[in-house]
Amino acid sequence: IAIANGSITCAAPSNIALVKYWGKKKDQIPENPSISFTLSACKTITTLHYKKKKDQDQFSFDIYLDGIPKPDFKPKIETFFRRIEMYVPFLKTYHFEIETSNTFPHSSGIASSASGMGALALCLVQLEQKLNAENAEESNYKKASFLARLGSGSACRSLEGELIVWGEHAKIEGSSDNFGTKYPYEVHEHFKDYQDVILLVDKGEKQVSSTLGHNLMHEHPYAERRFEQAHEHLSKLIDIFKTGNLDRFVAIVESEALTLHAMMMTSMPYFILMKPNTLHIINAIWKFRQNTGSKVCFTLDAGANVHLLFPKQEKDSVLKFIESDLAKFCQNGHYINDQLGLGAELL
Ligand code: PMV
Repeated sequence: IAIANGSITCAAPSNIALVKYWGKKKDQIPENPSISFTLSACKTITTLHYKKKKDQDQFSFDIYLDGIPKPDFKPKIETFFRRIEMYVPFLKTYHFEIETSNTFPHSSGIASSASGMGALALCLVQLEQKLNAENAEESNYKKASFLARLGSGSACRSLEGELIVWGEHAKIEGSSDNFGTKYPYEVHEHFKDYQDVILLVDKGEKQVSSTLGHNLMHEHPYAERRFEQAHEHLSKLIDIFKTGNLDRFVAIVESEALTLHAMMMTSMPYFILMKPNTLHIINAIWKFRQNTGSKVCFTLDAGANVHLLFPKQEKDSVLKFIESDLAKFCQNGHYINDQLGLGAELL
């Protein structure tokens, strides 16, 4: 079917890994399985305008963030299009205007690659469906996750919620290196409406890209042991999700965060993405937990910001603790309240 022009709008959230993806093989295949909470408030909304063009010999697109042209985003999208071209054959037959905006400030140090690639991938899959109505795709979300992975690995975990596995694991049925899948087993009600407050310690651009960081795992002295450990942590989480043992949950999540950064500190070249305030926050959390019996824990992405994860019933006390003890370590006192969410959607 030839559709001359139109537009599609999709939203996709960010996600926060509990077991971290750090290290990849060819074609964005992860060295180890990872699992993440899908977030809710932090998301990217993307409108894909498409218009049939005459020639079919190259990609043609413009990209805007909050209405402002962003030519500096083009190389990343161009790479993405080249990687997915064989799975999305109509890419060269249209000119695209990609209009995107984030619900979180772009200078927050929160990576928008997962939500951004997730939203764009879902737009493309929706367009494919429109063009090819009789096409019996297995599932839109599965294909969108597959495509998003080729844009940014962790983006494949942003299509669905609330708990997503990416990467083959012997004990998790249906897990795949190619796309994210919903965690298939029992999850205790302690994890229902789990909260994530993101403390914005450093809103600057990352000094080391995650692409570079993943590549440094190739010659890394501890790589093999680390990849095994990720499998072990995921195995342990299966029981923890079932029983709702939050003390064991905290131990694995915090160990994963520090291991991710330990890998950065022990690669060659080595680097440190945490800031002094990251460590102040971690110490304050440990003290708070000891004094109050709270189950709040921290995790980190490839940056200095700290994610605080905790059960909803602790919301009032943790927010008080943040205001009194942690906000002073955040740039301009800024932090973002988020919680578990259901994933990407067509708007
Ligand atoms: O998706 P990438 O290539 O930007 O990798 C990000 C990896 C971490 O955020 C550090 C960990 C993870 O599993 O999300």
